[in-house]
Amino acid sequence: MPLHAFSPADRLLLGPGPANVHPRVLRALSTPVLGHLDPQFLLLLSQISDLLRIAYRTRNEWTFAVSGTGSAGMEAVASSLTEPQDRVLVCVAGYFGARMQEVFRRCGAEVVTVDAPWGQPVDPEDVARAIRKTAPRIVAVVHAETSTGVLQPLEEIRAAARTHGALLVVDAVTSFGGVPLEVDRLGLDAVFACTQKCLGAPPGMSPVTLSEAAVRKIQARRVPVQSYYLDLGLLWGYWSGNGYHHTMSATLIYALWEALCLLVEEGVEARWTRHERVGRALQAGLEAMGLALFAAEAYRLPVLTTVRVPEGVDGERVRSRLLEEFGIEIGAGFGELRNHIWRIGTMGYNAQPRTVLLLLSALETVLQKEGFRVPQGAGVAAALEVLENAHESGSRNPKSLLIR
Ligand SMILES: Cc1ncc(COP(=O)(O)O)c(C=O)c1O
Repeated sequence: MPLHAFSPADRLLLGPGPANVHPRVLRALSTPVLGHLDPQFLLLLSQISDLLRIAYRTRNEWTFAVSGTGSAGMEAVASSLTEPQDRVLVCVAGYFGARMQEVFRRCGAEVVTVDAPWGQPVDPEDVARAIRKTAPRIVAVVHAETSTGVLQPLEEIRAAARTHGALLVVDAVTSFGGVPLEVDRLGLDAVFACTQKCLGAPPGMSPVTLSEAAVRKIQARRVPVQSYYLDLGLLWGYWSGNGYHHTMSATLIYALWEALCLLVEEGVEARWTRHERVGRALQAGLEAMGLALFAAEAYRLPVLTTVRVPEGVDGERVRSRLLEEFGIEIGAGFGELRNHIWRIGTMGYNAQPRTVLLLLSALETVLQKEGFRVPQGAGVAAALEVLENAHESGSRNPKSLLIR
C-alpha cells in the first residue's frame, strides 16, 4: 500500500449531492483547529447562528447546526419533538418521505401517512383531510424530494396543520440555499438541512431552526429525548455557551462559516435566482436533446433535475462513461426508479452556466456513442438561450457566465 497523500480524481459532482465545494470553503478547511470551548470558537458559533437566521429567513432563537449530515438533522428533529405515542402525519412522495416515516416510527411515534405517486407532490387537500381525521401533533413533509426532483408547495399544508394545532416539520436538505424557503413567512416549526448541496460546503453539518412552539414542545417533554447526542435542547445549550455537550468539529464549522459568508455576500435571493436560471437552462437543454424530464412540470425543482433514461439506453453505462471519460458524476434513480431515471444536481458552486454546458455536451457525446440519436448541439443551444434570456430579465451579473 503506497503511503502518500490521497489524491482523488478531478470530478465534477453533478449528482444529488455532495456538490463540488467552493474553493474558498476548501481553503477554510485547512484553518487550525480551535478547542470546542474556546471563547473565539463559541463566538464563531453565535455568528453562524446569525448567518443561518439570514439564510433561513427567520428570527428563531434556536437556529444552529447539528453535527452530522442531513440525516442527523432529521433524527435530531424527530427524536427531540416526538414523545411516545405522539401521532405524526408524514407526507410520502418519494424515498426521503418514506425515510422520515421510518425515523419517526423508530422515535416511538404513531405514524400515519399521506402518499402521492413518485413524480408528483402530495396533494394538500389529502393532507388537510388526513389532519382532520387523525389530529396529529406533528405534520412532516419533504420540501424538495431528491428521489423524484419534485418541489412540494408548503403553504396549504401549513394552513391545515395550524388550524389543528399541529407543528410542521420540513426536510429542506435539498432546498436550503437553492430554492426559496422563508421559515417565518411560511410559519414552519422545525426545519433541517445539510451543507453538501446548495450551500457548497462538504457534508457533515445539518443546519436546523425551531419555532417558539417547537421549542415549547421540547421544553415540556415528560420523558427525556432517547438520544443524548441528538437532543436539540442539549445541543442548543452548548451552542448558546452553556458548556460542553460534545466535541464539535472545528474544521466543519469553519467550512460552514465560509459557505454562509459566501451565501450572504451573494444575497439569499440572488442565490435562489442563480439556481433557478441554471437549472431551467439544463432542463431546456435536456428536452432539446430529445430527453423526457420525470418530475411533474409545474413542480420541477431547479436544483435537482430528474430525466427518464430513454428506451433502449443502458442508464448505468451512460453514467459510467460520463464518469470515466469526462470525470462527471450524475445520480441514478432510487428504489422503484432505479434504472429508469438519472438525477442531475446543479447545486451550490456547481450552479453555474459552464457546468451545464459541459454536461450537455458530454451527455450528447455519450448518448451518440450509445446509439441514441441526439440533434447535434441542440442541448447547448437551448440552454444558452435560457441563460441569455435570464440575463435580459434582470440577472445581477448580466455579462458573466461564471460565479465568483
Ligand atoms: C431530501 C433529503 N432528506 C434527507 C437526506 C439525508 O441527508 P444526508 O445524506 O446528508 O444524511 C437527503 C440526502 O440526500 C435528502 O436528499
